[in-house]
Amino acid sequence: MHASTRRPDLHQGQRHPDVLVIGGGIIGLATAWRTARRGLTVALADPEPGGGAARVAAGMLAAVTELHYGEETLLGLNLASAARYQAFAAELAEAGGLDIGYRACGTLAVALDSDDRLHLRELHALQRRCGLEPEWLTGRECRRLEPMLAPGVRGGLRVDGDHQVDPRRLADALLAACERAGVVFHRAGAERLTVTADRAAGALLDDGTEISAGQVVLAAGSLSGRLDGVPADVVPPVRPVKGQVLRLSVPAAYAPFLSRTVRAVVRGSHVYLVPRENGELVIGATSEELGWDTTVTAGGVYELLRDAHELVPGITELPLTETRAGLRPGSPDNAPLLGPTDLPGLHLATGHYRNGVLLTPVTGDVMAEVLATGELPDIARPFSPRRFSAAAREESFA
Ligand code: GLY
Repeated sequence: MHASTRRPDLHQGQRHPDVLVIGGGIIGLATAWRTARRGLTVALADPEPGGGAARVAAGMLAAVTELHYGEETLLGLNLASAARYQAFAAELAEAGGLDIGYRACGTLAVALDSDDRLHLRELHALQRRCGLEPEWLTGRECRRLEPMLAPGVRGGLRVDGDHQVDPRRLADALLAACERAGVVFHRAGAERLTVTADRAAGALLDDGTEISAGQVVLAAGSLSGRLDGVPADVVPPVRPVKGQVLRLSVPAAYAPFLSRTVRAVVRGSHVYLVPRENGELVIGATSEELGWDTTVTAGGVYELLRDAHELVPGITELPLTETRAGLRPGSPDNAPLLGPTDLPGLHLATGHYRNGVLLTPVTGDVMAEVLATGELPDIARPFSPRRFSAAAREESFA
């Protein structure tokens, strides 16, 4: 039987899989699905698979419009993942029967005042230095593309390659694809990593189940640094970064309200409006270093609505249907940690920070490759967790 269609033996897959994935957010699910398709038996532990930060995220695939100074290496990975998205969506639909709402709509990043305009000009210069060619538009040209924009918009960058997906549909589609690929789900939390003879050997779950596995992938988002039993020098340096997000609904009579993602930096804060084909309009996001707090605050909602209203005044007419906060898994350099750690048998797929949805396809692919072959693909090498190991830190200070 062909490796990609082999159904893993159920008993084997339940307690003694080749691979145990800890964490059932989109990163853990994509890793599990792609790995199962390589013919390995895969188990996944999570009390609520399909949950996590993707339930809150807007789903922008913003490789170009979210470029920041110092993140040029990450840009390569982001662009590679963006380039895979359309095929990934089609494969997922084929594998699990669900559509993820991939929408090739592009993005318009606009400026409201002269400070914002300067910021956008700087971003434009950085993008051009990185070989990207977004188009600079006048305020009038921006409004011609998006008539709901405020009359005061001073200019903007048109980025036709920054698209969107619906992260909730992505999580549901990955769950379905994993189930069909034979991934065994344990609906329990991982309590402790099992280490035997200096090697990761599985995990004890909080329902008492013990799983022994050939390899373990820690893909628990912002919680990835909190698993007991992980040796101190390989604990991933991830932290939670809170994001509050609003969902509004565009009545059919108002459509098309926006035809593409619109974003801006308003008084130093990022705000974006992501219009879905089904009429949902997602407004995000705050960025708050408040530990594990996921309270939706009046201040957070106020700031998002205030800034979004400055960009698109008509939003105040729309029903507000949901307010929610999630936790991005931040890392020290804002880039993910992918692949083997210094503890044999333990891999990481975490720390995706602002780019979890965007990086899901490439993460699934590189993790499946390293788990199946032992070789981390070249594209992922700059993101090895070993860049944060004590030895690497000593070398960089030498
Ligand atoms: N990438 C969008 C956010 O993290 O808010």
